Amino acid sequence: VALMARNDARRAPIGIFDSGVGGLTVVREIQAQLPCEHFVYLGDTARTPYGTKAKETVRRFTLECAEHLLGYRIKALVVACNTASANALPVLRSRLSIPVLEVIRPGARAALREPNGFPIGVIGTKATINSQAYLKALLHLNPKAEVVSAACPLLVPLVEEGWLNHPVTRTVIKTYLDPLLARNIRSLILGCTHYPALKHLFTELCGSNLRLIDSAEEIALELKQSLSRLNLLNPDRRPGRQTFLVTDVPEQFIRVGEYLLGRKLARVLRVSLADTAGRG
Ligand code: DGL
Repeated sequence: VALMARNDARRAPIGIFDSGVGGLTVVREIQAQLPCEHFVYLGDTARTPYGTKAKETVRRFTLECAEHLLGYRIKALVVACNTASANALPVLRSRLSIPVLEVIRPGARAALREPNGFPIGVIGTKATINSQAYLKALLHLNPKAEVVSAACPLLVPLVEEGWLNHPVTRTVIKTYLDPLLARNIRSLILGCTHYPALKHLFTELCGSNLRLIDSAEEIALELKQSLSRLNLLNPDRRPGRQTFLVTDVPEQFIRVGEYLLGRKLARVLRVSLADTAGRG
């Protein structure tokens, strides 16, 4: 019986969530590094963006998303959202008995590995920047770190809308970046999982000397190491099963999601977070 239980846990899915499509930039990397794992992705599209909301609201939404995913008997939870990571992590970890991975620390670590030096630029949602989570993580890892931060609240709606190559998006990014570039930043942390969807525009506007950092690769690696340490990697060698859930009409999520993942999203289900019973 004990052996069965262990096998079941290893074959359980990984839960991943974000307020919308942004977390798919993390999914892309998790899939590349852990192709045999099953996962359930939840995009809380009914309530996106999180980044303009109060800390208490973000916490409540985050707990509701986590609770919904627990109904799928997930073996680990990836908070593929900087806003939720920055504002709700302690309460989430105190309530869940499975590993909870977040995106801030991996992003800070990746930034400090860059040889370009300081200052490091950080952009994110208002709620992420106001929390100072990146500043704290960077200073914790290197007390000498110099950091310049800016909130970019218009970028999440532009990505959700799929305006990934639109001139308006280019103008908005330029307007947010100019003050940071004037401060001579040497690298830029894309501190919101929606932003890597606009990496091409950031590269175009910042030039190739500025290092762009997102946490996706780093968090996928951390997830792999953490599952392996806990003996929770799926022993089956077949491609994993993927389930995508959204809390509102799925059309836009499918359209932008297919672009971000570069493949068809066959099954996207609309769920209500109030209904957390009866799955698994
Ligand atoms: N992708 C999220 C983040 O990383 C979401 C932002 C939002 O909903 O405002 O912060």
